[in-house]
Amino acid sequence: MMALVRAEGLSKWFPSRGLVRRGRAVQAVTDVNLSIGQHEAVGLVGESGSGKSTIGRLLLGLVPPSAGHIVLDGVDLVEANAATLRRLRRRMQIVFQDPYSSLDPRRKVGPQIADGLAIHRLMPARQRRERVDELLAQVGLQPEHADRYPHEFSGGQRQRIGIARALATGPDFVVADEPVSALDVSVQAQVLAVLADLRTRLGLALLFISHDLPVVRSLCDRVVVLYLGRVMEEGPTARVLERPSHPYTRALLSATPSLDPVRRRTRILLAGDPPSPSNPPSGCVFRTRCPYVIPACAEGVPPLDEIEPGHRAACIRKHELPPVPH
Ligand SMILES: Nc1ncnc2c1ncn2[C@@H]1O[C@H](COP(=O)(O)OP(=O)(O)O)[C@@H](O)[C@H]1O
Ligand code: SF4
Ligand SMILES: [Mg+2]
Repeated sequence: MMALVRAEGLSKWFPSRGLVRRGRAVQAVTDVNLSIGQHEAVGLVGESGSGKSTIGRLLLGLVPPSAGHIVLDGVDLVEANAATLRRLRRRMQIVFQDPYSSLDPRRKVGPQIADGLAIHRLMPARQRRERVDELLAQVGLQPEHADRYPHEFSGGQRQRIGIARALATGPDFVVADEPVSALDVSVQAQVLAVLADLRTRLGLALLFISHDLPVVRSLCDRVVVLYLGRVMEEGPTARVLERPSHPYTRALLSATPSLDPVRRRTRILLAGDPPSPSNPPSGCVFRTRCPYVIPACAEGVPPLDEIEPGHRAACIRKHELPPVPH
């Protein structure tokens, strides 16, 4: 599959926000290689603070990387000039976790959905209204909703508006950053169904950021597992979830309640909190919490080696782990 979006050696360090003057930088993302094919949905999972949102923003060119490259459809975002970036921005959009904070409470939603069309001067004003109606229909809303204000909608409807807004410019790559985690469980499935349907119908490439593995399983072709800003494991979703080959992926999976009580998984409890990204452990960054750690794990960063086609794990003991309990 041809990659639409590619990240190579991507790293992002933030200056420390602490009061200590010579505080260490936050190593939010370190040496990440990632590619998303045309029409492909890739899940990005990991605990809070593991660097998921930062990767999403880097891929969209919203923040510059500290090192590495991002290539969209053959064009390097890091080296692109302002005009090229503007042209590419139209093709990449984001759906935020909390649509309320990204919508202006004082403006009707119709014009807000059309913002991208106006910014990129994609069509004359009178055609925009038609396009807004079409977008509203695509996310299961009515034309009359265009004249209402954000507070007149439920959380689920507001996220539908967030999706409509992201799709207005006809992007081919969308980052959805935990798009349903702020919603009631009862409406999460409906909003996910809208997203899943649109991504197939419009042939979108999707980076779906989530900490909910069952949701990733239902929506994504591939999954990338992140810990402290590094990729621990990646591969076809079904393979990674059925045969997790990194101790961290196993721990994440065991923390996910199984729907089938007979097959309820043995819980692997992780000791302690994640280490600070300002001071990550040497060698394997997971070693301070790994149940299988040995002294050699401190010696070097484990390479992300292939286990089977397209399925990789960064663990020196990946072939020695006990079978996954079912
Ligand atoms: N603008 C910023 N300035 C300083 N630190 C940041 C900034 N944005 C994110 N971070 C830090 O980078 C790390 C990764 O954050 P983030 O990408 O938001 O993780 P996630 O989305 O997985 O929860 C965290 O330690 C976070 O505190
Ligand atoms: S390299 Fe060592 S510490 Fe890291 S995941 Fe593998 S066994 Fe655990
Ligand atoms: Mg986040």
